[in-house]
Amino acid sequence: MSVDKPDSNVDRRAVYPGTFDPPTLGHLDVVRRAVRLFPQVIIGVFPNPKKAPLFSVRERVALLRSATADLPHVTVKAFDGLLVDFVRREKAQAILRGIRAVSDMEYEFQMAMANRNLSGIETLFLMPGEAYTYVTATLVKEVARHGGDVSGMVPQAVLAHLKKRMAAPPRQSSSR
Ligand code: PNS
Repeated sequence: MSVDKPDSNVDRRAVYPGTFDPPTLGHLDVVRRAVRLFPQVIIGVFPNPKKAPLFSVRERVALLRSATADLPHVTVKAFDGLLVDFVRREKAQAILRGIRAVSDMEYEFQMAMANRNLSGIETLFLMPGEAYTYVTATLVKEVARHGGDVSGMVPQAVLAHLKKRMAAPPRQSSSR
């Protein structure tokens, strides 16, 4: 293992990637923790058609921009292709992921190892506040779909958008 010291002149940046369908208060809690550690945080939104997202990638980017509007050192971008290529293009030094429970670890460990073997880029894990450990984007959609109250799980902008989407789902042809 290399013992090289990081270049102190480098503007440290981290990429926080995800599907964010939709962004939750748990995601935002992780972003707020990340900006205390890194001068620049780039939220990378992956379209992830495999997961058949409820919101288009454009909508997810817009929702995250609105939810992080008070954080000047956070930028939100969509990316396609390999995460490590996006991290390199953004000249970032680390990948950030949130871990809610030990059960998240198997999937996260596999991704972190694959990304490190592909590129040498390390993944750092942050734990969201305890209040959000049960919050997942899947749970939010499930509760909202059945008319439940998700106001304690998502930012205001997402809440309004979710209500609209549940009332009138988009046609199949909309871009994802
Ligand atoms: O919020 P998610 O769905 O858990 O995020 C998963 C994501 C987007 C981080 C992951 O699927 C990803 O990095 N996709 C980009 C394609 C890629 O690099 N895949 C290999 C990862 S080991």
